[in-house]
Amino acid sequence: MKLALFGGGAMGRLISARAKDEGHEVALVLTSRDAQRSADELQDLLRGHDAAIDFSVAGAVLSNVTACVRAGVPIVVGTTGWSLHEPDVRRVVEEHGGALLYGANFSIGVNIFYRIVARAAELFQDVPYYASFIEEAHHARKRDAPSGTALRLRDLLAPVADDIPVASTRAGYIPGTHRVGFDSDADQVMLTHTARTREGFAAGALLAAGWIVGQQGTYEFSDVLNKILAERTIRK
Ligand SMILES: NC(=O)c1ccc[n+]([C@@H]2O[C@H](COP(=O)([O-])OP(=O)(O)OC[C@H]3O[C@@H](n4cnc5c(N)ncnc54)[C@H](OP(=O)(O)O)[C@@H]3O)[C@@H](O)[C@H]2O)c1
Repeated sequence: MKLALFGGGAMGRLISARAKDEGHEVALVLTSRDAQRSADELQDLLRGHDAAIDFSVAGAVLSNVTACVRAGVPIVVGTTGWSLHEPDVRRVVEEHGGALLYGANFSIGVNIFYRIVARAAELFQDVPYYASFIEEAHHARKRDAPSGTALRLRDLLAPVADDIPVASTRAGYIPGTHRVGFDSDADQVMLTHTARTREGFAAGALLAAGWIVGQQGTYEFSDVLNKILAERTIRK
């Protein structure tokens, strides 16, 4: 694939290196300096790419998606913290017949973790004396808190309670840890996902980019992961 990247930070660099390893061409990397470009200029730069991948900042997502769908380039968005703009983003994609695949967490393990948590929520909804809670920890540079993954976990726990506490820690270099607990006076059940490196996010994002080419509409990664895995194999 001929790829365009929004964001040349920690994730952008990782995706770039991995994309090249997988035989893709990273033909364009846009960073904060490109935020000054006009919409027309951005579209011209993007035209002709097979897909774009966005790991930038929340405030740029709407204009990045708009530029991509106008240029006819499907886009994968891994950037988090833009849920306030989600209705506008969806509308723009629909209006232009574009393709968007987004996910707060492109790790395959986390997406399996979501299913485990959803099943746990089903089991615990009939035993209301367990109090559920979420804890997440990330590196000090992460801007949004709670993480998009924690918010998704909270949605999955809605059958259990609607006021689930979420604790966030930002410190050091932690790639990402999420815990979901169910606590009673007698015992505690704790489910944990621990990212060891960010490689898993890059691998999932590239897998998603391969899948979104030729699609139309807006998709959330965990909703289509089974479909994607049925069609493609993921490298470790
Ligand atoms: N979905 C997932 O699986 C997943 C995994 C990890 C991280 N994330 C999310 O991905 C995002 C990026 O993470 P990161 O660790 O790579 O952050 P980072 O190291 O801070 O990099 C952010 C990059 O975005 C660029 N940027 C800022 N404004 C821009 C704009 N208007 N257009 C294009 N690029 C722009 C920055 O440019 P400069 O270099 O010029 O400052 C920088 O290169 C965050 O929202 C993070 O939460 C998601």
